[in-house]
Amino acid sequence: MDAQALERAKEHFAKLIEEQAERIERMKKDEQWVDYEKVKPIIIGVCLGDGIGPYICQQTQRVLEFLLKPELESGKVVFKTIEGLTIENRAKHNKAIPDDVLEELKQCHVILKAPTTTPREGDPWPNIESANVAMRKELDLFANVRPVKVPEHGIDWMFFRENTEGAYALGSNGINVTDDLAIDFTVTTAQGAERIIRLAFDYAKRTGINKVTVVTKANVIKTSDGKFLDTAREVAKDYPEVEWDDWYIDIMTAKLVDPKRRSQFRVMALPNLYGDILTDEAAEFQGGVGTAGSANIGKRYGMFEAIHGSAPRMVREGRADYADPCSLIRAAAMMLNHIGFTDHGKKLEMALDICGNYEKKLVVTGRPTGAKGSELADYLMETIQDPELEKRWQSYQPEAKAA
Ligand code: IPM
Ligand code: MG
Repeated sequence: MDAQALERAKEHFAKLIEEQAERIERMKKDEQWVDYEKVKPIIIGVCLGDGIGPYICQQTQRVLEFLLKPELESGKVVFKTIEGLTIENRAKHNKAIPDDVLEELKQCHVILKAPTTTPREGDPWPNIESANVAMRKELDLFANVRPVKVPEHGIDWMFFRENTEGAYALGSNGINVTDDLAIDFTVTTAQGAERIIRLAFDYAKRTGINKVTVVTKANVIKTSDGKFLDTAREVAKDYPEVEWDDWYIDIMTAKLVDPKRRSQFRVMALPNLYGDILTDEAAEFQGGVGTAGSANIGKRYGMFEAIHGSAPRMVREGRADYADPCSLIRAAAMMLNHIGFTDHGKKLEMALDICGNYEKKLVVTGRPTGAKGSELADYLMETIQDPELEKRWQSYQPEAKAA
């Protein structure tokens, strides 16, 4: 091999290690979780995004403003619109998140983020990093929490996907050592693995579920996945009441499809890439990625987003008003729970279940044959106002139906 190429690769690797060592030092500082009860005002940043983003975001904000009316009036909560997270502006600055946009994001406590375009090689845009991935790293949103529920099939899953490490940590920092040799890196740190695994165990304990499944491929990816699994073994010792097991990602992917086995899984903790893949598979049982919300949580910040993309085609074809805002509205419900407005969050979740899964008086199809996003938002707000909301929701639960 050409000696210069080898030197370049060594230098590249050394720099990556230094950066990760710095990140570890930052994690060791062990910041405290924000206590939102004490924060006034709680600043909710709203990123409009690309494609259908601004359309579904507007509907989500309408529903939030409706629910948060008293808190907006008392000044407990304020909204801050962030315009610059568009592909045009990101391409102009050739950055996943332009500096001034990042500053604006950092002035918020939590962020509602509409889908943004993620370019890839060959697109008309520069091949910049995904805005989600960059935001997760910049704001240290280490936990990607994704619930999936299908009560009629006994499915009640909560995924704790590690969100800042694994294959994503250096996803844009791989190296073409020569034309023949491309190398990517995957990273697990003791601190990074511990904090996500602990969050999963805490959740399992707090909810009384008392069961965690750790998913890796530690039989092959022995070092970084091995560390994730070893960390789980250590963390588990602090939770004697929580039963736990470990599965490899390949068989786990298969078992999620097995009707006899899948309902036994409850809380999953897994490295970044496996979490990415498994949560899309999981969401499919619930009606697809369009139905699932996603919370990206760190100690200081939180970001809440839809799992689906920006669907630029819908805008080109003049169908943006017919885009389904439910995934982002689900994310908004998770946000309300996260910042302590659990009553609002619960109401919104029940209304989403009733309107989107049970009653379906209006159905959004993405085309003029279906309802508009704004009509669905109206339907949700009407449902929230129903004094019998909880009873109405209960009547659709499998236990109620069986009785
Ligand atoms: C997700 C998405 C992102 C990811 C993409 C858009 C980079 O698939 O949030 O799961 O891979 O994390
Ligand atoms: Mg994904």
